[in-house]
Amino acid sequence: MTSFYPLTVSQVENLTTQSVAISFEIPTHLQSDFAFQAGQYITIKHKIHGKEVRRAYSISSAPVVSGPQASITVGIKEVAGGAFSPYANRYIQKGDVIEVMPPQGRFLYAPTSAPVHILGVAAGSGITPILSIAKRVLVNGSKHTFTLIYGNKSPQDVMFSSEIEALKAAYPNQFKIQWVYSQANEETSLFGRIDTAAINYVLKNIDTDPFDAAYLCGPEGMIKTATESLEKAGLATDQIHYELFTVATESTSDSGETTSAGALAAGNIAVEVTVDGETASLEMDAKTILLDAIIKADIDAPYSCQGGVCSSCICKVTKGSATMIKNQILTDSEIADGLVLSCQAMVTSAEIAVDFDDV
Ligand SMILES: Cc1cc2nc3c(=O)[nH]c(=O)nc-3n(C[C@H](O)[C@H](O)[C@H](O)COP(=O)(O)OP(=O)(O)OC[C@H]3O[C@@H](n4cnc5c(N)ncnc54)[C@H](O)[C@@H]3O)c2cc1C
Ligand code: FES
Repeated sequence: MTSFYPLTVSQVENLTTQSVAISFEIPTHLQSDFAFQAGQYITIKHKIHGKEVRRAYSISSAPVVSGPQASITVGIKEVAGGAFSPYANRYIQKGDVIEVMPPQGRFLYAPTSAPVHILGVAAGSGITPILSIAKRVLVNGSKHTFTLIYGNKSPQDVMFSSEIEALKAAYPNQFKIQWVYSQANEETSLFGRIDTAAINYVLKNIDTDPFDAAYLCGPEGMIKTATESLEKAGLATDQIHYELFTVATESTSDSGETTSAGALAAGNIAVEVTVDGETASLEMDAKTILLDAIIKADIDAPYSCQGGVCSSCICKVTKGSATMIKNQILTDSEIADGLVLSCQAMVTSAEIAVDFDDV
């Protein structure tokens, strides 16, 4: 479950001056481990200047409809000053071998045989999972339709532009797109950011058929605005799905739900951790985040973003209790069932047992 596998880079393609598509070849013996649903991400583990970094990247390629998943592609946009994305953009080459964890994530599009009409809203690198979902929807049949609202600074910043143009050409009756540019005035594009006006424009002028679901990926502000606009336009909360790549650093921001399940424990806490069928014990200080203590104890628990956005660190509290600093992933009923994001978990009991397998 927590395993990383060495995968060979089969292709590197510059998408823009600041983004790159990296494809991995999946060897036959790993093809079932790397089967995925559109919307999911992989975690890459790499040592940079002697320090291990783990980063999540959404898969931009489509899952195969049938047969083996022989490759997976991700799109990585360079974040200024970042530890991994500049390295990925400048140094990763065809033939490199990189440690990759199999696909994970709860931002999923599950194909149905009944025709669906799906809206995708993406900004910048947020296109990656949306592109995978779009491809999977469109390949399902001529009655399956997808409309994309895609925001960037300018046409030069658009990731996967040729793939998007290819979708337009291949599915003229199923696929629509509205470009939105914040720093370029182009014919047929909207000027500005993806805001309520842009969403309403699309719903009133580009695609007036009711959507069965909307998939959003981009910065927190855009997701909040798009969600509110779509709800006002009649979509139910459970029809709107979103993925965040990063959250505002203030952990108690508007959309970050801060949870409170009781006072923190005092002093040292006895912790039991079950991962991959093995149980280990450790002691931790009550002021330490649970996942940090587990990593420090060299226990190979799954994690990726360490920021409460990716969901890979979910575990079940089987004894004791914990509260989360921030939670935008788990539902109330999952929390009631004992699930916590270990990267956000502060322990509220003198002893705690957590299980990463039973989730
Ligand atoms: C589920 C998930 C899927 C993701 N999918 C993709 C993807 O498909 N493509 C992609 O390019 N990235 C994706 N990311 C973001 C990616 O994991 C890294 O966070 C990003 O590449 C920055 O890593 P870094 O090591 O370069 O920067 P870091 O060293 O981690 O951060 C440097 C600074 O940049 C800020 N920062 C981090 N990420 C971003 C961001 N995305 N935008 C603006 N500022 C940021 C940090 O807060 C920090 O201040 C995804 C993240 C998650 C959780
Ligand atoms: S490691 Fe990403 S949510 Fe905890």
